[in-house]
Amino acid sequence: MASYDNIGDEAREVLAAQAHIWNHTFNYISSMSLKCAIQLGIPDIIHSHGRPMMLSDLVNALPINKAKGQECIYRLMSILVHGGFFIQTKINDEEGYLLTPTSRLLLKDEPLSLVPFVQMQLDPIIMDSSHSLSEWFKNSDSTPFETAHGKPFFEYAGVESRFNHLFNEAMASDARLVMSVLIKNGKGVFEGLNSLVDVGGGTGTVAKAIAHAFPEIACIVFDLPHVIEGCEGSKNLSYVAGDMFKSIPSADAILLKWILHDWSDEDCIKILKKCKEAIPSKENGGRLIIIDMVLMDHNLQKGDHKSYELTQLSIDMLMMAVASGKERSQEDWAKLFSDAGFSDYKIIPILGLRSIIEVYP
Ligand SMILES: C[S@@+](CC[C@H](N)C(=O)[O-])C[C@H]1O[C@@H](n2cnc3c(N)ncnc32)[C@H](O)[C@@H]1O
Repeated sequence: MASYDNIGDEAREVLAAQAHIWNHTFNYISSMSLKCAIQLGIPDIIHSHGRPMMLSDLVNALPINKAKGQECIYRLMSILVHGGFFIQTKINDEEGYLLTPTSRLLLKDEPLSLVPFVQMQLDPIIMDSSHSLSEWFKNSDSTPFETAHGKPFFEYAGVESRFNHLFNEAMASDARLVMSVLIKNGKGVFEGLNSLVDVGGGTGTVAKAIAHAFPEIACIVFDLPHVIEGCEGSKNLSYVAGDMFKSIPSADAILLKWILHDWSDEDCIKILKKCKEAIPSKENGGRLIIIDMVLMDHNLQKGDHKSYELTQLSIDMLMMAVASGKERSQEDWAKLFSDAGFSDYKIIPILGLRSIIEVYP
């Protein structure tokens, strides 16, 4: 092959710029390949095989038109191997595949499965919002989601039952993973509480985990009527329908998991003031327990830094596309708490991309 040593700096620069643009242009192919693998059930099929699976066995087990077979599945698997979802290995001179710790979270029956989360985020209803970004910058709609679908996000979920179910399942899958870490590593957050309201608590996955781990805490799941419809409580868990902008049931602590990043600073202050009315003073143990991101968390491991940063920036853009929200830095959070009349806060960075933030009245 000819050497490129002789090409000039200008050409080198333009080709590097082209590669950079191509890289960003085709980023979505990784997401779509992941979506395809999940839809075809590839992680489950490899898992059920119980040992490294040869490409030909994988193709035979897949619910596909076999004419599309070996070559196309090899190409799909190659980008997923590159993305760290599978390990490629030789079995009897043929390509074979194994799961990685990441693809274990893509098994349908794995208790901490993130399949519902990925399915929701890569659903056309969500992705259409991003297609409407530039149009939204020029019009007066509240969000690109509204530009794409004619209604704000939570109103749309209230009338489109397929999307309501998809969204609630996605949130529940995220909640299962977060709570598995929190109950094991952050028990102290809930100690001393007799009651707790999970505001915007979805179908109750977070509150169920707390109610189970702390039978002495009376837990209330508070959300919009279409979300909690059909949900049933238990001994120390109940459901209350309502609007957090109007009134929130009283308790020792209010939990807000992935709520405030959905809203503007103005709306967050309204929500936080309603929360403050619902809890006792700091001296009497009143507090908010927020689970959300703190941008550029100082807790980040060095090696993870770049990918964490891109994920946080991407979710910030997602919040612009689907809601009127945003991700916040420590300074942003401090200002929000002070503007809503809270006296102090503590960040407990034990949830990877997100943190727990305790806020005191
Ligand atoms: C991003 S989801 C988070 C769900 C859950 N906290 C979790 O993280 O798994 C936001 C939740 O806020 C609820 N929500 C939106 N507007 C609300 C309102 N005005 N009053 C109460 N809940 C609301 C939504 O229905 C949804 O369940």
